[in-house]
Amino acid sequence: MTLSSAPSRNREVRSFWEQQPCGTDAEAVGDAKPGSAEWYGRIEAARYAREPLVHSIAQFTRWHGHKVLEIGVGSGADHLQFARAGADLWGVDLTDAAVETTRQHLELHGFTPRVQRADAEHLAFEPESFDLVYSFGVIHHAASPEAVVAEIHRVLRPGGRFIGMLYARRSLLAAQYWVAKALLAGRPAQSLRTVLSRHMESPGTKAYTERELRALFHAFSSVRVRQHVTYWDVNHLPRMVRQLVPDRLGWFFEVNAVR
Ligand SMILES: C[S@@+](CC[C@H](N)C(=O)[O-])C[C@H]1O[C@@H](n2cnc3c(N)ncnc32)[C@H](O)[C@@H]1O
Repeated sequence: MTLSSAPSRNREVRSFWEQQPCGTDAEAVGDAKPGSAEWYGRIEAARYAREPLVHSIAQFTRWHGHKVLEIGVGSGADHLQFARAGADLWGVDLTDAAVETTRQHLELHGFTPRVQRADAEHLAFEPESFDLVYSFGVIHHAASPEAVVAEIHRVLRPGGRFIGMLYARRSLLAAQYWVAKALLAGRPAQSLRTVLSRHMESPGTKAYTERELRALFHAFSSVRVRQHVTYWDVNHLPRMVRQLVPDRLGWFFEVNAVR
């Protein structure tokens, strides 16, 4: 299989993520030497300490022996879990930084990675190639999430599954961004959509309502959507208050859809 190169429409998104692969921030890695076993160990530990729900969403061990494509591998923590589970695994990311970080991450643990740089809006895989396409926190960054979802649908076999996470617009974290970047900045008329597009990670980030997500995945035969409150919504709140925030105000939408 060959993979396409990233076209220019996602150039700004790519340059943002080339600067630092997801999950390699200073809070996660501390003073560990970049690329060392210690550094990768801290990336993995921080990922599942902050986002323990990834395990229940991805259900890595269910994919033993199945053909899996991960879109947007980041620093490769989830990719490593699929490799450990014995999946027949492929990965893509828009950036060289993520591809290299993930390759080294898997090699460190004795796996042979098959990770390539590609824009998920134009995957070069054959139709009906995969049992699972997994993409956690990626599709909302693309210039055209519709194009990415169409590609996911195309490369999944009939009955194959998409599992992933997309951001929720009506959430505590989005509201906090709106207060900081619109209200307190003297621009109360600015919409949540605009604030997130301008200030949430790479330029043009989208966030969804459940209805919008169901429309995005309309071509799938069944779609399960579940909202989760996350570390990012509540980490600055007093511990007692954190427990009180309901999932319907959470930043993550889990999507589980069958082609
Ligand atoms: C927030 S990080 C998530 C990484 C990883 N899935 C995780 O959960 O840690 C977003 C990743 O998506 C990648 N990405 C963004 N747009 C993409 C696209 N159009 N095609 C492929 N990868 C993309 C970025 O390069 C980045 O590595």
